[in-house]
Parts: sequence; structure tokens; C-alpha cells
Amino acid sequence: MSTVNIGVIGCGYWGPNLIRNIAELPTGNLVAVADTRADRLKHIKTLYPFVQVTENYSDLFSMGIDAVIIATPPHTHFAIAQDCLNHGINVLVEKPLTLNSADGEALIKLAAEKNLVLMVGNTFEYNTAVEMLKQIVDSGELGEVFYVNAVRTNLGLFSTRHNVMWDLAPHDISIMLYLLGKEPTSVSAMGRSSIYKGVEDLVYMHMNFDNDIVGHVHVSWLDPQKVRRITVVGSKKMVVYDDIEPLEKIKIYDKGVDAPPYADTFAQFQFSYRYGNVVIPYIKFTEPLRVECQHFIDSITNKTRPRSDGVVGLRIVKVLEAGEWSLKNQSQLKNIEPTSVELAAPALSTVNGNGNGKH
Ligand SMILES: NC(=O)c1ccc[n+]([C@@H]2O[C@H](COP(=O)([O-])OP(=O)(O)OC[C@H]3O[C@@H](n4cnc5c(N)ncnc54)[C@H](O)[C@@H]3O)[C@@H](O)[C@H]2O)c1
Repeated sequence: MSTVNIGVIGCGYWGPNLIRNIAELPTGNLVAVADTRADRLKHIKTLYPFVQVTENYSDLFSMGIDAVIIATPPHTHFAIAQDCLNHGINVLVEKPLTLNSADGEALIKLAAEKNLVLMVGNTFEYNTAVEMLKQIVDSGELGEVFYVNAVRTNLGLFSTRHNVMWDLAPHDISIMLYLLGKEPTSVSAMGRSSIYKGVEDLVYMHMNFDNDIVGHVHVSWLDPQKVRRITVVGSKKMVVYDDIEPLEKIKIYDKGVDAPPYADTFAQFQFSYRYGNVVIPYIKFTEPLRVECQHFIDSITNKTRPRSDGVVGLRIVKVLEAGEWSLKNQSQLKNIEPTSVELAAPALSTVNGNGNGKH
């Protein structure tokens, strides 16, 4: 079995989860970990004595590495990813891909020129519950989809550099685009900086999609309750995905309301409510990060476009960028141009998996 030599850059809060998965996968060979903080490297060395550590990620370029996973703060993603691609190294970069669409496009073009894999860590797209949610939406069981509502709230972890939208909303936007198979045509956002001036800790995003579908994202670092919930409401049924639930993550509600086609009298003017069963499908859970890391390795080995490739990452950045503009411009609606799939690496064959990258 061929293995892919991998280095991880950034081992703060999230990086160790990626390091553990790469270390455990038989197809991945964890060669080195880089971080500017010596204390974090010391910690990693106690867990994985065999791994090389360095405070300068460019040392990885002379270690025979095929791929890197970048888990550094978002403002560093572009420069580090560009440097790694320029050194002929495949890249999995944590979300968000970049902090603006021009940088995102530049990375996609660079990866295409070099025939390298560029993947974004949209973890939820590798979550079996989200995959089931997509199957339910695609099957037509919900009828015509009216709207998707996402709530992601908790107390902290605060950042002073990026607002809560850039921190938490990439997850919900990625799930929404994945479920609906398309990007929004326009976005608006409103928010509030309650604790640290100029950095919103509460944001409500509104997205318009084709066919009158509406998406909402509510993210907050300042909420007493940890909520991770997506609701999809259709003309026939409604479904709720609650990521906090240990087992019963998805509930399909056979509920709906029909308005009368016409009403001549008040007596005839009755909405008809349907209250049916609630179905809780069984979901076989696999750690999403494990699936994501394996998919990155497979994409490199098979020279295929990952499901969450640079184009998928760019679409999310464009939504966030439009949201940021709206936040700074009295919540005005910002139109979004469709993203060209032609940007993607032509030399890599089409997406393996469920075809998400083709949207
Ligand atoms: N997919 C998910 O569910 C998920 C969850 C949490 C965080 N993230 C993402 O992971 C990334 C890291 O987030 P975090 O919460 O771990 O941040 P963090 O601040 O805890 O860790 C980042 C680490 O990167 C290091 N670093 C910074 N600049 C560096 C450089 N130039 N070279 C080497 N190391 C450098 C820092 O020293 C730090 O140890 C972010 O992009 C975040 O959005 C993803």
C-alpha cells in the first residue's frame, strides 16, 4: 500500500485532531509538525515521539513531504498555502480557504497549474449525518425546499482578529451549499459587537438562492446555550439535524400546512395542518475528520478533485465576503456572481465521492 508523506502546519486547538487522524491512518505517514510556538511542538513530541518538529514550516520543504495540512489562523492561510503549492506540495487548508475571493482564486489557479490537490477542511461535508441529510433533500421526500435555517451558538471562543461569521458560519454555509447543490445569488448580514469593539460576536446572515429558496445562518459567541442545528423546511416534510444529539441527530417530521386555493367565506378559509410521524433514521457514525483526511490522501493518490476542493472553498469565501460587505453597509443585499467551475484543476480527473465539487 502506498503512503502519502504528510506534514501538519499549526498545532494549536484544532491541529492536534488532524495530527491524530493522520498518525492513525495506514495510508498517511505523519512526517513532521510545524508551529511557531515551541510549547505546542513540545506537547506534540510527547504524544508522537517519532515525528519531526520545527518552528519554521519551510523546513518541511526538505523533508520529502507530499502534502501539508494547514491548521493555522485564517489570516495566514493564503501565504502558507501559496508557498506550499509553489514547492510542489498538495494542500489541505482549514476553513475558510482565504479571507478574500481574489486570494482564493489565485490558490485555485496555482494548484491547477501545478496539477496539485487543493482541498478545504469543510469537515461537515464528511459527516455521515450531513450526508444523510443531503440524501433526504435529494430524494424529494421533503417536497419543494422552502428554506434552510442554521443556528450555531455558544459562549466563546472569542477572537479579536476575525468576527464570529468568519469563524463559525463557514460550517453552515458549507452544509447549505452542499445540501442545496448551488450557491446563493445574494447575501445580506446584520450583527453586533457586544464585547470587543469592531468584531461582531453575533451575526445573522440571509441568503437568497434560485427557486425562491432562502437560507439563514445565526452564529454567536455570546449565547448561554451551545446549539448546532440545521432545519430544512419543505412543502411535504421538515427535517432537523441536531449535531449536539449523541444518537438521534436527524428527525424527519411529517408536518406541513396547506393554504386553501380560494375562500369565499370565512368558514372556508381554513389552513389545513398535517401532523404525522416523526422518523429518526439510524446513522452509522464515523469520525468526520477521519473521513476527510482519508479523502485528502485518496485524492492525492488517485489524482482526483476532492469533494471540498478549492472551488467549493471559494464559493464559501464569496458568501462570507458578501456578508462582510453587508455588515459594514447597513445590511444591504449584495449580489454574488456564479463561480466558474473552469477554475478547478483541469488535469485532475473529476470529483470522487458524491460530486459536490461540481456544483
Ligand atoms: N474544521 C473544523 O471544525 C475547525 C474547528 C476549529 C478550527 N478550525 C480551523 O483551524 C484553524 C486553526 O484554528 P485553531 O482554533 O486551532 O487556532 P489556534 O490559534 O488555536 O492554533 C493555530 C496554531 O497555528 C500556529 N501558527 C500561527 N502562524 C503560524 C505559522 N506561520 N507557522 C506555523 N504555525 C503557525 C499558532 O502558533 C497556533 O499554535 C483555523 O483556520 C480554524 O478556522 C477548524
